[in-house]
Amino acid sequence: MRERLESLKQEALRELAGVSSQQELSELRIKYLGKKGPLTEILRGMGALSAEERPVIGQVANDVRAAIEAVIEEKQAAFTKAETEQRLQAETIDVTLPGRPLPVGAVHPLNKVIQEIEDVFIGMGFTVEEGPEVETDYYNFEALNLPKDHPARDMQDSFYITDEILMRTQTSPMQPRMMERLKGAVPVKFISPGKVYRRDDDDATHSHQFTQIEGLVIDKGIRMSDLKGTLLQFVRELFGQRTQIRLRPSFFPFTEPSVEVDVSCFMCGGSGCRLCKHTGWIEILGAGMVHPRVLEMSGYDPVQVSGFAFGMGPERIAMLKYGIDDIRNFYNNDLRFLRQFAHL
Ligand code: DAH
Repeated sequence: MRERLESLKQEALRELAGVSSQQELSELRIKYLGKKGPLTEILRGMGALSAEERPVIGQVANDVRAAIEAVIEEKQAAFTKAETEQRLQAETIDVTLPGRPLPVGAVHPLNKVIQEIEDVFIGMGFTVEEGPEVETDYYNFEALNLPKDHPARDMQDSFYITDEILMRTQTSPMQPRMMERLKGAVPVKFISPGKVYRRDDDDATHSHQFTQIEGLVIDKGIRMSDLKGTLLQFVRELFGQRTQIRLRPSFFPFTEPSVEVDVSCFMCGGSGCRLCKHTGWIEILGAGMVHPRVLEMSGYDPVQVSGFAFGMGPERIAMLKYGIDDIRNFYNNDLRFLRQFAHL
């Protein structure tokens, strides 16, 4: 039996020495070490051996197996290495070739301004809320104290979907929407940016679609001085710490009293220049104390609480800030225009 094992080993090693492919190697592995191979067969016959012989022959058989396995492994490693080398050679890449640059996008200048404004108000404890652009007549007008026959509606003609549903003309409908959502709880304190729509003939300063940012604060004991302080803080963060504001009486159906808010010209500091049309002031938003009827209609008691609201147009602020002279630039998607703001 010892001789048989020895000659088996010799035969296997001779055959293995001549293998030239992985395929052959795995065939030989099965031939010599497989379940139906000669080694297995010899081991099976060990039962016929005497108790003294069995461990000796067992040892020899194990040595033979180990020797064959070692050669197979060695060959396998050599094949794998050769294969890897071949692949590396076939895949050589020329690292001196110039790369293909990926175009890098940038935030649209209008969105940039909206984000800046959001940051300032978030810093003052406001949340940012978004509302639907397709709005009902109720939220867009009626709940804001603009009944169906109100003349102030004339300035906000829009795109109607039905008699009762339209593209919102302002972000103000977020006032009643949020009040209803909060069900009389205070404080109410949010801003709401978004797109608005009006029937308008587009020109350098008019667009049938533009953006607004609404703001609303309601709590116990909110006064006009809170409105003034909040807006002063806002314009100083946006336009610089020396900026002043000026409130002029105005009219909005949903605020009483209502004001138009001007900022001191950030170009000339207030002495008068082309940007401020030599007045020293630039109008940037409308605001006022929330009308008691508006509070009442949305479930707030005007005896218990009061509030202020404001609304502004980010396009106008961006145009002033960056010296853009045509509102249509924001919407035409001309890369030559947009690239100028990519670094901001
Ligand atoms: N919604 C007004 C507009 O489109 C802007 C506005 C003015 C909003 C005064 C307000 C406000 O909240 O208090 O003209």
